[in-house]
Amino acid sequence: MSDGLDDVVAAETILSDVDGAAGRLIIRGHLLDDLAGRTSFAEAAELLLDGFFDDLPRGAALAAALGRSRLEVFREVAGLDAGLVQASPVEAMRALTARLADGDDVATALRLMAAPAVFTPAVIRMQRHLAPVAPDPALPHAADILRMMRGEVADPAQAAALDTYLVTVCDHGLNASTFAARVVASTRAGLTSAVLAGVSALKGPLHGGAPGPVIEMLDEIGEAANARAWLEAALQRGDRLMGFGHRIYRVRDPRADALKRAIRRLDPNSGRLAYAEAVEAAALAILRERKPARSLQTNVEFYTALLLEALAFPPESFTCVFAMGRVIGWIAHAQEQLAGGRLIRPKSTYIGPEPRQAA
Ligand code: ACO
Repeated sequence: MSDGLDDVVAAETILSDVDGAAGRLIIRGHLLDDLAGRTSFAEAAELLLDGFFDDLPRGAALAAALGRSRLEVFREVAGLDAGLVQASPVEAMRALTARLADGDDVATALRLMAAPAVFTPAVIRMQRHLAPVAPDPALPHAADILRMMRGEVADPAQAAALDTYLVTVCDHGLNASTFAARVVASTRAGLTSAVLAGVSALKGPLHGGAPGPVIEMLDEIGEAANARAWLEAALQRGDRLMGFGHRIYRVRDPRADALKRAIRRLDPNSGRLAYAEAVEAAALAILRERKPARSLQTNVEFYTALLLEALAFPPESFTCVFAMGRVIGWIAHAQEQLAGGRLIRPKSTYIGPEPRQAA
């Protein structure tokens, strides 16, 4: 048995490759650094979904179809009752997504791509007692997300930074949420069910739930001089340092640097970034001392937290923003599984008691 399915190969994929020793991420034949900051969300969707739908719109037509899908799913926001508004944004976003019809056609895929992008700003605004803002289908996806959250058109540099983030996290091998999506897709349940499985797996603090706690950690530490003592105490309590460690990477996660560059482009003199870099350095030094055999490095979530904070997303919504990007990976993997894969059905080893023999 392999604990946590370590090193188990469960799929062949043309979508992405994570080289944990070299710190290299390939997405459909492109290095991450050649996509992040150069490709829009709609272009990344076209790249990942290429070949999985006969009628996938291309280029500007795909961006326009995505805009229409944002408008279409916005209708569901009316179903956000008071109880759901009080829930965490990811739970409210998931509940609204669950209202969308299931299917495996391109229209379902477009609605699912639009869902976290539309539902998250609506939930954030309603939690602040503000009316949701309807999508503008003419705007690029990232720019419209910021507009729906803020109620005004965002600075283009901020929209570009969000685009960089969404593309950076769009796919990443057989991570926990993508595997969950593929398992559900393998049962032929449909894309909406597969995406809901992905969202549910993403929400955990060991996966996409980590960046909110990164902000808590930075806020609690307060200033660089306190970092070492705070981090030592956290490890002493048996806590994990959020934003560090990865199942596959034994070197630095290349996405961390892509996001750090995006933060620097937004604000070259960011004091918050300088502070976070000091905390990061202290954490890496302590992890090297405490866990020398493990090679724990900074993962994507550390700089995700800083970038999304700089874009004024509230920390409790960070997992939803992750889902806005990763949803195209889930859909592509679900379609790949559907096209070629059998039902995913591993075995377990029974270690319980034997039934008693009849006397
Ligand atoms: N802080 C402190 N110790 C850690 C950390 C961490 N961030 N990460 C791993 N370790 C330690 C574990 O305690 C364990 O130590 P032990 O052998 O002395 O018991 C050892 O490293 C191995 O831990 P595993 O849980 O087996 O490692 P795994 O590969 O399963 O963990 C994971 C990967 C879950 C990401 C882990 O590093 C972690 O919990 N990190 C913090 C949460 C986080 O940042 N999650 C986001 C990951 S990126 C993403 O999913 C998009």
